[in-house]
Amino acid sequence: MLPRVFVERLTKIVPEHAWEAVLQSFSDPQVTAFRINTMRATPETVQATLVSAGISIRAVAWNPLAFWVLQEDRNRLMASDPYRKHWIYLQNLSSMVPVMLLNPQKEEQILDLAAAPGSKTLQMAALMQNSGSIAAVEVVRKRFFQLQANLKAQGATNVRTFLKDGTTIWRHRPNYFDRVLIDAPCSTEARFREDNPETYRYWSLRKVHEMAWKQNQLLQAAIRCARPGGEIVYSTCSFAPEENEAVIEAVLQQFGEAVCIEPLSVAFPNTQPALEQWEDNTFRTDIQYALRILPTPQMEGFFVAKLRKRMPTD
Ligand SMILES: C[S@@+](CC[C@H](N)C(=O)[O-])C[C@H]1O[C@@H](n2cnc3c(N)ncnc32)[C@H](O)[C@@H]1O
Repeated sequence: MLPRVFVERLTKIVPEHAWEAVLQSFSDPQVTAFRINTMRATPETVQATLVSAGISIRAVAWNPLAFWVLQEDRNRLMASDPYRKHWIYLQNLSSMVPVMLLNPQKEEQILDLAAAPGSKTLQMAALMQNSGSIAAVEVVRKRFFQLQANLKAQGATNVRTFLKDGTTIWRHRPNYFDRVLIDAPCSTEARFREDNPETYRYWSLRKVHEMAWKQNQLLQAAIRCARPGGEIVYSTCSFAPEENEAVIEAVLQQFGEAVCIEPLSVAFPNTQPALEQWEDNTFRTDIQYALRILPTPQMEGFFVAKLRKRMPTD
């Protein structure tokens, strides 16, 4: 059973109309989503190969490079040529959203401050057609090597990798990057599976607060690394307001006029604005520009916010 305190908190976080579906999402079978790796293959080739292998793939209206298959087709997908040749990359649809909102452009300088195993680094490299440069930072050694292996297999050539603590990077490169992604380490609440107690065994309020502290340090670093005018996307796969709204609120207060939060727009319906209030805290009204993605069988729960470092002349 999911932790009681977690479920109680969740009833206060998600809107009433979505509550049953959200609770159901922890036990419902999930689809397997994937992204076409345009560094290795064209969408047409991948689709034709999968269809001729008899695998029924479904398109995603808001992302022409994203597809999914039902759970029963997962093994066949993973045995297929497109998977074995790294023409596709398995990635939850929600996990593709932060990069779509960061919107990296060709030839830009990008920082990915918590990069392993590299799903979003790869998505950015593909969007940038391997131009410009991405600095990908990861602090955990084993995950760092997994990141490097994935970059190589998928054909990303514009990425430099750093086995480092992301909170220190700004000292080497302050005010430098056009765009910064901080897909923060979190309590992974949105990945809890009712039938797999391992997914929530280590959850506690203490863990949530520990994560919030780390996230705050990383987001501060991300802001320091961005150039004036540069943009920062912050994301987690946690529902906890301490790891989401409260982290954004704290940096907006800390950086004052130097940083602002930007409105977000996505083309799918399962979202809610960030919370205005949590327990004794009332957040500033523009926190609601941040977005909570509500879980569905196709998408896991996510939180995304976009910040901009103001130019001195703004
Ligand atoms: C949510 S995961 C990132 C997933 C990745 N962005 C992707 O899409 O594949 C967070 C990562 O941050 C790493 N991490 C935790 N603390 C860090 C730190 N201080 N500096 C850099 N990376 C850190 C974790 O080891 C983990 O790999």
